[in-house]
Amino acid sequence: MANPSILILAGDGIGPEVMAEVKKIITWYGEKRDLVFDVSEDLVGGAAYDVHGVPLADETMAKAQEVDAVMLGAVGGPKYDVLDFSVKPERGLLRLRKEMDLYANLRPAQCFDALADFSSLKKDVVAGLDIMIVRELTSGVYFGQPRGITTLEDGSRVGINTQHYTTEEIRRVARSAFELAKRRGNKVCSMEKANVMESGILWREEVQWVHDNEYPEVELSHMFADNGAMQLVRWPKQFDVILTDNLFGDILSDCAAMLTGSLGMLPSASLGAPMANGRPKAMYEPVHGSAPDIAGQGKANPIACILSFAMALRYSFDLGDEATRLEKAVEKVLADGVRTADLMGPEGGTPVSTAEMGDKIRAALDASL
Ligand code: NAD
Ligand code: IPM
Ligand code: MN
Repeated sequence: MANPSILILAGDGIGPEVMAEVKKIITWYGEKRDLVFDVSEDLVGGAAYDVHGVPLADETMAKAQEVDAVMLGAVGGPKYDVLDFSVKPERGLLRLRKEMDLYANLRPAQCFDALADFSSLKKDVVAGLDIMIVRELTSGVYFGQPRGITTLEDGSRVGINTQHYTTEEIRRVARSAFELAKRRGNKVCSMEKANVMESGILWREEVQWVHDNEYPEVELSHMFADNGAMQLVRWPKQFDVILTDNLFGDILSDCAAMLTGSLGMLPSASLGAPMANGRPKAMYEPVHGSAPDIAGQGKANPIACILSFAMALRYSFDLGDEATRLEKAVEKVLADGVRTADLMGPEGGTPVSTAEMGDKIRAALDASL
């Protein structure tokens, strides 16, 4: 049987820096666990624009559709801010999500014990935290029509985006959330703004429908997303699975990042419908961006990207035990006090570089054998 295939799209800024550490981990699995992946690489974002004049070439899109999993680093950066909207680096990422139909974006936020002191929140608020945000990823205001900037008769301009959700778009991502909840704490909290948006009313009704008809055994609650943001920092351990739309999910997951200590810690899996082999179409991407402020300095924390690969092991390759091995290796390294600069508290200390963090994690993998 052919080896499982991975397409690496490292992208811009710190993307290639953190992805270099993932590549070392992939090599480790080949050498030490006899798990060999067919790895290919291509361009996305500004890196693709520089070569092709578009943030994602059609050939790259076609490759992404073929492989078992895509690993994406990050896209964007100040150099590309002047580009026309249609060719901005972020459009490449959005095209991948849309054309692969990756509707369920799983963004787990776990607070490792070693970092409980480091969060900007009190230790007892975050210690032991383990929540899963399920963000709808292919619809909503990110993709709704009409959209654009137009000039009115009086010469003033208007910017338009449309929040748009269909019954089926809501139901399918709700099912993903309920399925996950069954394997976790059995609770889903759905967040929208049904008090001010019709799309929020539909969201609430359809999530409730899926619950009542298909998952009555899972505990379901609904919350307005603004309250949800507050509750997430007040007492995040009240949540198990949070289900929300594309835009609210983007914001709430960055917010959840600080519960874990750093945005450099948060992985994600963007999953679609099952392929012929029964595994979901998938792309794995850290929640963070290209971090232009630290790019090129060897300062980036590679853990979010490495934990995204752990999610690939679990969700695309049916290697849950190996995913746990990698997560434990990360936990061990953090427990040993190894820290990249983003994980340094006011008391200071000497941070390790991106590459040193990757090396320590590989050494911890060695020690796990
Ligand atoms: P960002 O996530 O790139 O950075 C926010 C802050 O977090 C910065 O201070 C950065 O240094 C820090 N940070 C992020 N990742 C880190 C890591 N791994 N280790 C240490 N520190 C880290 O968000 P931004 O600055 O708002 O956006 C920069 C660019 O990235 C923009 O062009 C944006 O569109 C893009 N972006 C891309 C993605 C993606 O590719 N998935 C996600 C978010 C933002
Ligand atoms: C993310 C990012 C993206 C988003 C951007 C870069 C398109 O912020 O993955 O969280 O808004 O979805
Ligand atoms: Mn984001």
